[in-house]
Amino acid sequence: MFQREDWTAFRQLETLGQRAGVGRDEIPDVVAKELVDNALDAAGACEVRLDGGELVVMDDGPGIDPATLGGIFAVNRPQRSTKVLRRPSRGALGNGLRVVTGAVLATGGTLRVSTRGRAFDIRPRDSDGGSDVVELGPSEHQGTRVQVRLGGDIAFDADALVWPQVACDLASEGDTYAGRTSAWWYDSDAFFELCQSAGDTTARELISLFEGCSGNPDEATAMGLQVEPIERKGDRTVPVADYVSDEWSEWLQTHRVELNAMTTPQFLEWLDAKMAPYDAGKVIPPTELLGAELADQARRASREQVVERILREADADRRASEAFESLRPRLAGVDVAAHVRAELEREPSERWTEPVERLAKEIAADNR
Ligand SMILES: Nc1ncnc2c1ncn2[C@@H]1O[C@H](COP(=O)(O)OP(=O)(O)OP(=O)(O)O)[C@@H](O)[C@H]1O
Ligand SMILES: [Mg+2]
Repeated sequence: MFQREDWTAFRQLETLGQRAGVGRDEIPDVVAKELVDNALDAAGACEVRLDGGELVVMDDGPGIDPATLGGIFAVNRPQRSTKVLRRPSRGALGNGLRVVTGAVLATGGTLRVSTRGRAFDIRPRDSDGGSDVVELGPSEHQGTRVQVRLGGDIAFDADALVWPQVACDLASEGDTYAGRTSAWWYDSDAFFELCQSAGDTTARELISLFEGCSGNPDEATAMGLQVEPIERKGDRTVPVADYVSDEWSEWLQTHRVELNAMTTPQFLEWLDAKMAPYDAGKVIPPTELLGAELADQARRASREQVVERILREADADRRASEAFESLRPRLAGVDVAAHVRAELEREPSERWTEPVERLAKEIAADNR
C-alpha cells in the first residue's frame, strides 16, 4: 500500500498549484502575493520589485528569528500559523511560505532571506521536505528581505506584480481596523485550531478576545437591559477583558447582563450599529485589476471547457463509476469504525473525516 505525506504535494508544480488553489501558470503570482502579504502583516508597508528575473520583497518589520528560518521556509512545516487569532489585515493559515518554498523546490530556483542584519541562502530538500540554511554573511537590512528566483520554464513577469502592487497600495490607504477579532472570520476548522492553541486560556477569556461577544457594561446599562445580580462562590473573581474600566470590572463581580436580554429587533439594531463604522460599501478594485481578473476567469473557463470535453470524449463518468463498482467488495470488507478509532488515537487533533479520506484514497489507489 502506498502512502504519501501531505508535504510531497508541495514539491511538484501540478500538485503545488492544487495546494495554492491556482493553475500552474499563476504560481509566480501566488509566490509574490504570499511574500507581500507577510511583509504587510509584519510591517504594514513593503517594497516589491523585479530585479532581472528575481523577485525582491522587503519590509521594515521586526524581522524573523534566524534560528527559525529552516523551520518556516520549508514545505514539510506543519500548516500552523502564528496568526491563529484572525484579523482582517493579515494571513492565517500558515500556508504562504510552504507555497513559496515549494515553488523554489519544484522549479529548482533559489531563495535568499536577509533578516536582522544577516543574509541566508535557503535550500529546500527534495528528500524529506526540510530546508538547509546557509549563512552568507552580514546584510545591511534589518527588517526582512526575501529574494526568489524560479527555475525551469516558469518565471516572474510584470503580471506577478499586479496583485502585490494593489495590496501595497491598499495597505497605505484608510484606517487599519484596530478592533478585536470577529467570530464571523472563522470556519469551524479555524475555530477548532484556535481553541487547540489556546493553552490555559479559559473559555471566558477567549470569548473576551472577540468583538461584540462580551460588550462593555456601559452600553448594556445605557440600553436599559435587564441587570441580573449574581453571587459568587468563595472568593473567586471574574476575569474581565482589559478594555473594561476598573469601576465596571468591580461591578461585573456581582452583576451581569446577558445578550439575550435584548429583543430580536434590538439585537439586530445593535449588531448593525457595531458593523456600521467598518462598512465602506462594496469594494471594487482598480480597472487594471478588474481586467486581470477577467482574463484570469476567461482562462479558467476555457480550461474547464477543454477538460470537460476531454473527459466526455474519454467517457470518464462511465469509467469512474465502473472503477468505483469494482471497489465495493473491498469497501464492504473494511472495519471503518475500528480504523477511525485507531487513527484518532494516534493523531487526536484530526477530525474523523481525515482518516476516512486517507483510507478511501488508499483503497482507490490499490485498485489502479
Ligand atoms: N516578512 C516577515 N516578517 C516577520 N515575520 C514573518 C515574515 N514573513 C513570514 N513571517 C513569519 O512566518 C510565519 C509563516 O508565514 P506564512 O506565510 O507561511 O503563514 P501565515 O502568514 O501565518 O498564514 P497564511 O497562510 O495566511 O500566509 C508567519 O506567521 C510569521 O510569523
Ligand atoms: Mg502569509
